[in-house]
Amino acid sequence: TPGSGKTPLSLAFDAVRGSLTDAVVVPAGYTAQVLIPWGTPLNSQAPSWREDLSFTPQIQANSVGMHHDGMHNFALDENNASSNFLLAMNNEYIDQGALWAPQGGPTNAAEGARPADEVRTEINAHGVTVVEVKKDGEGRWRHIPNSSYNRRFTSATEMELSGPVAGSDYVKTKYSPDGTRTRGTNNNCANGYTPWGTYLTCEENWPGYFIKDAGREMDDNRIGISEGRGRYGWETAAGDASEVDDEFARFNATPRGNAATDDYRNEPRTFGYIVEIDPYTGARAVKRTALGRFRHEGCWPGKLVEGEPVVFYSGHDSRNEYIYKFVSDAVWDPADANRPGANYDRLALGAKYMDKGTLYVARFNADGTGEWLPLTPEAKTQDGRTLAQALGLAADDLAGVIIHTCDAADMMGATPMDRPEWGAVDPASGDVYMTLTNNSDRTAEGTAATYTNGGSDIDELGVGYGTAPTNGPNPRADNSGGQVIRWREGSDATRFNWAVFVFGAAVNDADNFSGLTELNQFASPDGLHYDDRGDGQGILWIETDNGYDNVADYTNDQVLAVVPQNVNQAEGDAAVIGGGDQAQLKRFAVGPNGCEVTGIFFTPDKTAMFINIQHPGNWPSTEDATVETQGSVRPRASTVVIQREDGGEIGV
Ligand code: FEO
Ligand code: CA
Ligand code: CA
Ligand code: CA
Repeated sequence: TPGSGKTPLSLAFDAVRGSLTDAVVVPAGYTAQVLIPWGTPLNSQAPSWREDLSFTPQIQANSVGMHHDGMHNFALDENNASSNFLLAMNNEYIDQGALWAPQGGPTNAAEGARPADEVRTEINAHGVTVVEVKKDGEGRWRHIPNSSYNRRFTSATEMELSGPVAGSDYVKTKYSPDGTRTRGTNNNCANGYTPWGTYLTCEENWPGYFIKDAGREMDDNRIGISEGRGRYGWETAAGDASEVDDEFARFNATPRGNAATDDYRNEPRTFGYIVEIDPYTGARAVKRTALGRFRHEGCWPGKLVEGEPVVFYSGHDSRNEYIYKFVSDAVWDPADANRPGANYDRLALGAKYMDKGTLYVARFNADGTGEWLPLTPEAKTQDGRTLAQALGLAADDLAGVIIHTCDAADMMGATPMDRPEWGAVDPASGDVYMTLTNNSDRTAEGTAATYTNGGSDIDELGVGYGTAPTNGPNPRADNSGGQVIRWREGSDATRFNWAVFVFGAAVNDADNFSGLTELNQFASPDGLHYDDRGDGQGILWIETDNGYDNVADYTNDQVLAVVPQNVNQAEGDAAVIGGGDQAQLKRFAVGPNGCEVTGIFFTPDKTAMFINIQHPGNWPSTEDATVETQGSVRPRASTVVIQREDGGEIGV
């Protein structure tokens, strides 16, 4: 029972039915406004959006990026933080069809050399957008063109490496012979933020942008760097390999000479990190390597306690990959809390809390307990060797352990999960929620992974999973519905207790374990946000990125709300399979055809909810997000602001 003596929080809207239209659907009494769609000019160096606008590198570098995903709000002044703030947003990847619509599509998308300016434009459509936004007197939201805060970080922007990997031989390249810098951040999916006022952007599906045709190493195979051609063929714009052009050849990590002076074999090792951005200043972004190297979906701060370490959670979104926790060496000093709008060195605080600490990976036991397994060179693996020995590294090579985070996690006996995506933390209880979106490679028995190198299978040190056997938090084979799990930290930093919070499913599925109905059936949970409403109560918002037909035939991707019931889970309690009593799970909004719904935050006064509509098929056509598109439009990922007509708090 929540909040003793307090009125229990209740969802005061009528759940919306499924929808299969080119429009956003919200409950009666709510509005939805399109804000900062892709291609919105941030300053006067870019023209206004037009249906037939031809993008150039210059235009895209000065406009909102493509495929909006995770985002967060940063107050400029505490007194008007609900009507004027900086919005920092990920631009995860691109829709080449929409980007190159006036030209009839991209040039040489699948074979042949890509033109340099098309590649530069695509690079500039990726990354992060920082933009000042403001609510006007009529309750409409606008971005502020030419605000001095408006800024883009792209897949070409110079960034610093920090933490254990920085300066190591693993990341020395022709561009940065001392291994301290790299260019760009890629595939910024979900996000995070820090108590000291910085934005965290997370590198997820970056391996697909690099190729390596020879000299492949253990981590290239484990993490999925391919041979042949990159996702958009950016490396082909370099032209003849004998006259290496840094700008594009860096996406081809094939060794050509000396690692530190001649080539980019180590370029992929400068990706796969949590990247810290100070949205208030022009400071260079920093890749915080201590938090591990993998396909980071996002990064969420744990419960903050004065005098205790700062904790961050992160999941690796690939089938049968793992959940991680970083625990800082430094303990939290409230004097380090953000001072909105002020211009000072927040990244020095990032260095204090994120460059030194311990990275752990999660093992979930069948009885509802769990353990955090340290990924340090001296940690003892399942076979009794140290992790450094097992990985073939020097005894104190923490940088090497981080470069091989996934292999290290295998060796420690981490639990393979059903694609960990977003996390969310209840700041009162410290309970952590995480979406496990789906897993087609979950079977009853499981098989070991095989990796290929030049066409022949090789036996790698790390084992990984081809298919993983079902286990406690991942109990369904060929899991299409996905689930949300919850855990609570135990009495020391290495133990926790977990339960499945809710299972996604279609109404008539045999494994509809959570008893979903037409008004709340969902599959493939992805975005997640714990919306604290005080008194130890809050609303958990779940966003979907679904491809499961039994639900997709009924509704497009959606946002659901649930008031979590407190299970008072004690150490050693059994898992609550089915999620207990989650009767208040309701569908709140539905996105347009073709999209996923992602990115989420609320203004501090809870009167405006910001979400992102990514990869819509034929939307938006008007500023009113709920107007169905007539005919066809050039689709644009957009932020959508949902508000109540009466200006009240969202959801209650
Ligand atoms: Fe970019 Fe795992 O979603
Ligand atoms: Ca996405
Ligand atoms: Ca996602
Ligand atoms: Ca997803």
